[in-house]
Amino acid sequence: MLSSQVADDGRRRSLHGHWSSRMAFVLAVTGSAVGLGNVWKFPYIAGQNGGGAFVLVYLVCVILIGMPVMMSEILIGRRGRRNPMATMALLGREEGHSKRWQWVGALGVVAGVLILSYYSVVAGWVLGYVVKSATGTFAGASAEQVSATFAGFTGSWQAIGLTHTLFMGLTIFVVARGVERGLEQAVRFMVPALLLLLVALLGYAINSGSFMDGVQFMFTPAWEKLSWGSVLVALGQAFFTLSIGMGAIMAYGAYLPEETSITGSTATVVAADTGIAMLAGLVIFPLVFANGLDPAEGPGLVFETLPLAFGKMPGGVFFSTLFFVLLSFAAWTSALGLVEPAVAWLVEHRNRTRSQAAVMMGFLVWFVGLGSVLSFNVLNEFTFLAGTIYDNVDYLTSNIMLPLGGLLITVFAGWIMCRNSTADELGGAGTMYKAWRGLARFVAPIGILLILINAVWPTIRATLDI
Ligand code: PHE
Repeated sequence: MLSSQVADDGRRRSLHGHWSSRMAFVLAVTGSAVGLGNVWKFPYIAGQNGGGAFVLVYLVCVILIGMPVMMSEILIGRRGRRNPMATMALLGREEGHSKRWQWVGALGVVAGVLILSYYSVVAGWVLGYVVKSATGTFAGASAEQVSATFAGFTGSWQAIGLTHTLFMGLTIFVVARGVERGLEQAVRFMVPALLLLLVALLGYAINSGSFMDGVQFMFTPAWEKLSWGSVLVALGQAFFTLSIGMGAIMAYGAYLPEETSITGSTATVVAADTGIAMLAGLVIFPLVFANGLDPAEGPGLVFETLPLAFGKMPGGVFFSTLFFVLLSFAAWTSALGLVEPAVAWLVEHRNRTRSQAAVMMGFLVWFVGLGSVLSFNVLNEFTFLAGTIYDNVDYLTSNIMLPLGGLLITVFAGWIMCRNSTADELGGAGTMYKAWRGLARFVAPIGILLILINAVWPTIRATLDI
């Protein structure tokens, strides 16, 4: 252990500094959780998977699996106080097991790089839509015009390549500035503002004439439409939207002061994240039905429904611009969490300065992202396994790597770490602790395994023809 990492009281300190308050931590984790996953991805995959039953499975996954995984990640991060790989290696040894647990951290570093590679492409679309909104592209536009705008924009690799580059530039800039100055300030105003604007849009959706159709689509379960495949997508979305299973939250936990309550912070973040996703769905689905659009149309869903609605409302140019600016911020603060494990690792193990690490990782992510840029135009017919390059990167990360990471994290926190260590981090052995332990030891790992096996095994069997 580095001597500089042990404070006078014998407690470990992080090399990268600490959050200035509990509020700062909660804001940063909320900033990481709330992003494109809530506003762009949740509605589009709920639409593709038939609504109702999918949404309920997703909510159950968030509570029974997402919460214990998030708590486990934070407590592991705070106990180790390093980048996820080093933390897992250190705690693995400390708990009398092996340092090989570091590979869980490594899995997360790779998942983060892969997710950011396409996340940045979609965030680039949001940046593009800020400009389109501000210049009045959507004022009074018809459904066909709005769809044509989306198809034209994403159909040009130059256009979305440029916005992808711009977004990666913004991300590297903040990451290079470091924990306290960079990350903390970026999240302070964005989430409340986004929430307010969504509530205002909800008012519009309620008056759209199809509000109840939207509500029904989201909450009436048609169980017969639910396959193990969509259950896995719901589980993957729970992981994706909460930023868990890949070490981002573990990395943030490493900067968390000792006295902060992990349970309380987790509950706040999960409530905010789920609330915003539900709100986004309640805004978007009524608009889908009011305008005769298809809920299952895919990644373009938000980019077509919302501009269409904004185009018809008074002050639409202003609100539409504001909305996409806020969504850019939400995506930006999420992107920070996606590279944090990789950057922290480069700083600690490869002796890089934070700026160098940010630029190196940024370049790598940008390059990998070109595959997703091309998936929407030049290479849109080049499909294998889950679909285009973008579809495959998304499937592999959200539905395989994150749940697998979450499974290993809960096994580590629930079975490898001793009771004393985890109870110490979670503030004693009360009812909340017992609930966490039961979920982390049994419900989460068994649930994840069950879903993974049921969803993936038939595919493997069919592919291998056995
Ligand atoms: N949770 C983020 C979102 O919903 C995405 C994300 C995933 C961020 C994993 C960090 C880590 O947009």
